[in-house]
Amino acid sequence: METVLLTGAASGIGRATARQLALGGRRCVLVDRNAEALRSLADALGGAHLTRVADLTDPAQIAALAEGLPPLHALINNAGMTDDSNPPVIGQDPAGWRRLLDLNLRAPARLPLALRERLVPGARIINVASGAGLRAIPWRGAYSPSKAGLIAQTRAMAREFPAWRFTVLCPGFVRTELVAALIQAGRLDPARAVAKIPLGRLGEPQEIACALAFLASAESASLKADLLAVDGGSSVFGGSQAYPPCAHAPMAYDTPLALRVQGPWDGPLQTAAQGYPALLDTQVLASPPGRRLDAIVQAARQAALDGPGSLTLLLPRDPDESWEGAGERAAARMLISTLACEWGPKAARINAVEVPPGADLAASLPLLRFVAGAQAQYLTGQTLGSP
Ligand code: NAI
Repeated sequence: METVLLTGAASGIGRATARQLALGGRRCVLVDRNAEALRSLADALGGAHLTRVADLTDPAQIAALAEGLPPLHALINNAGMTDDSNPPVIGQDPAGWRRLLDLNLRAPARLPLALRERLVPGARIINVASGAGLRAIPWRGAYSPSKAGLIAQTRAMAREFPAWRFTVLCPGFVRTELVAALIQAGRLDPARAVAKIPLGRLGEPQEIACALAFLASAESASLKADLLAVDGGSSVFGGSQAYPPCAHAPMAYDTPLALRVQGPWDGPLQTAAQGYPALLDTQVLASPPGRRLDAIVQAARQAALDGPGSLTLLLPRDPDESWEGAGERAAARMLISTLACEWGPKAARINAVEVPPGADLAASLPLLRFVAGAQAQYLTGQTLGSP
């Protein structure tokens, strides 16, 4: 049985993730400063999960965490706080400012170092950043800087500690206690937030939980130092039109994957006849340099997705990239995002995975199945594969 240490487990995304991990047969070490909520979560989960009460802004409490823990296969740095007190940056209270940075930016680096004797070789370390780390959100103190720092720090730590596999997840707006508090404080208008999200709805905690459980598993092995934005497409949308609220509720997250392939594929596929409709395109892979944008448009046209479902494209990643290649590659990524913004109101998703020439496609299948499937219904407009 694999063991996953999860911080901020007692509420919102953390609580949903603990449930998802337990459902997948993993033992959790549940860490939070809220002892009561932690205990009631552990009672509800049953089983062999461990709990640790700790304030992660305190380096001494982080250092004490390793004591008595079993070997850890994954660490999910999820605990985080926002600032809903409203003063502008230059009016911030220094103690609150420091506390936020300690939790959101420093704790995710202190934890793996404190747990280094417990983390197995190849352990997966997943940091929960935010869309706020990709674009500045004003009047929330150090929140955006802390999350931008966490994204960069994750990539730098991936280079520094190759024995561990790092990824960083950026959720968009998710219906949790944190977001409920912002709405209640008048700091977030849900209708205005939704108008900027191509999929036209806030995310559900379980959608982030599914992504975290996937990243914490061996199945995500092809992702290294990658950033996954699970945000309904909000981080790739730069237009000014308002999106309508989504007319389609998400399908059950355990809906089986009904996957069809556009183009050549000679591996096993394991697909259901009925379920969440998904297409995997392998045709762009064979397109020559200079013709890839045309090939993507052709694949999108052929997919003809007119309702909830997904198109996932495999894109070629040339090992020796010329300057023309660099331009075409970035244009291809942005084309995927543009299509996602156009398709969002239909709940039709499009994402891509870059693969080097001659890659064993079967090895990418677990990732492709996740991206294409019902568990990733809030994921759109993304091209995976580190830039
Ligand atoms: P939440 O407020 O519902 O849960 C946070 C958990 O962290 C709570 O159980 C809390 O007790 C714990 N915690 C807070 N301070 C702590 C400390 N000093 N030491 C130990 N535990 C502490 O938050 P939510 O919404 O579940 O967020 C989880 C993560 O996702 C955070 O890192 C947040 O920044 C990030 N996120 C959330 C988004 C959302 O829309 N809810 C959007 C983007 C990112």
